[in-house]
Amino acid sequence: MLLLMTTGVVGFYAFRPRPVPVPVEVLNDPTLLLGRTVYMARCVGCHGVEGRGDGPIAGSLTGPPVGDLADGKWKHGDRPEDVVAVISRGVPDTRMSGWGQLLEDDELKAVAAYCYYLSKAPIPESLRGSGGFGPVAPR
Ligand code: HEC
Repeated sequence: MLLLMTTGVVGFYAFRPRPVPVPVEVLNDPTLLLGRTVYMARCVGCHGVEGRGDGPIAGSLTGPPVGDLADGKWKHGDRPEDVVAVISRGVPDTRMSGWGQLLEDDELKAVAAYCYYLSKAPIPESLRGSGGFGPVAPR
């Protein structure tokens, strides 16, 4: 009995789902930290933790497959303003909806910065802080 209980307790701790650890380079970068917070709340379901397009609901979606954000290819352009625009407006006739109404400008830019991080590209300076290309238009 004791053995069974011990096995149960050990099993519970060994197999319970663990939160995904935050990489130290993200922890040390306020833009990426904000971007990751938005990403893990809004985007991970489709795009997946590493941005590979393999989130838990990706397989059940209709329409074009979820973009792979980690492959370094940008279907809608690789300039920061392109990436922000795609996130803000979404892509018509796909399950990528526009987030411009839901997210603040700094959140849009930060989550775009996090997309660059996932693709292992340098983070464009214009996505940091309140500088860069100013208010994010159009929505
Ligand atoms: C309901 C599923 C879903 C959610 C949630 C979602 N996306 Fe997408 N996303 C897609 C799909 C599908 C595409 C591919 C669209 C296409 O084929 O052009 C896409 C494409 C993209 C692209 C374009 C990639 C490229 O190659 O140019 C970016 C950037 C992107 N998403 C970022 C985000 C961000 C950031 C969030 C969260 C704020 C998010 N997505 C939330 C489904 C989703």
